[in-house]
Amino acid sequence: MTEALERFLSDLDAEIRKHGNWGEVADYIPELARVDPAQFGIAVSLADGRIVTAGQARQQFSIQSISKVFSLACVLGRIGEQVWTRVGREPSGRPFDSILLLEQEHGRPRNPFINAGAIVTTDELLTGRQPKEALSEILAFVRAAAEDDDIHIDKAVARSEAETGFRNVALANYLKSFGNLRNQPEMTLGTYFHQCAIEMSCVQLARAGRVLAGLPDAPRLLTALKSRRINALMMMCGHYDGSGDFAFRVGLPGKSGVGGGILLIAPERASIAIWSPGLNVYGNSMMGTHAAEQLARRMEWSVF
Ligand code: DON
Repeated sequence: MTEALERFLSDLDAEIRKHGNWGEVADYIPELARVDPAQFGIAVSLADGRIVTAGQARQQFSIQSISKVFSLACVLGRIGEQVWTRVGREPSGRPFDSILLLEQEHGRPRNPFINAGAIVTTDELLTGRQPKEALSEILAFVRAAAEDDDIHIDKAVARSEAETGFRNVALANYLKSFGNLRNQPEMTLGTYFHQCAIEMSCVQLARAGRVLAGLPDAPRLLTALKSRRINALMMMCGHYDGSGDFAFRVGLPGKSGVGGGILLIAPERASIAIWSPGLNVYGNSMMGTHAAEQLARRMEWSVF
């Protein structure tokens, strides 16, 4: 099966490079706007411990919103079910940076993967601690999950977002006005921007995702119940207002980032990371989504 998968990924890489309808890079974060959209990498970590790759699978990229999965895992480890008093677990049907529902729903974000919800989970991680400590906890989780210490924060990306992230500033202040932010908005946002600026390669991300896929060689960092729940949230909310379309086309839990990454989980079978920086209208990787669809279909990995 590994050889067939190797051939399939290399054909997919060639097909994408030939016909790639790459999409547009995120331009609201200046550092990300400089990235060439015509890039692609994929890594598949299998249940037998092997990892199969194609394209630029070892090139690091900005994981952005994929970090929300790891900050949620840390919060669930820290306070468990209590987190749901501050954030919901329903799809929002709105873009990732939308403020609309926040007013209607009195400052409780719909889920931990939209920006407002992730700002709340990061704020929770800051309880009684300094930004450095909260960021160390997230980094430690990711490094332990990937069993790789060469994972760092790109400070230039964090600074770049801090200079232009006006919608997040609005969201944090709005949350604060409803009493759903414990720390000063600048402190929570500074931490959030740094967490989003973690850089990983597809190989590192696929290895980190093993804890969610429940693969036999995954470090024991999450209970089965927690990973099942995170997967459910990824399926329903991981691609924002594109989540329904992603579930329809791919049929697997996934989490996208505006840096063009997608973490895709085939429970008990594989953890997959895909990167292509050009985005579709929802802010999710254009060719990454295409690759996820082709892979899930070819391997018959849809959970449905
Ligand atoms: O907060 C933001 O806008 C970015 N740091 C992360 C957004 C993101 O990755 C959306 N995903 N597709």
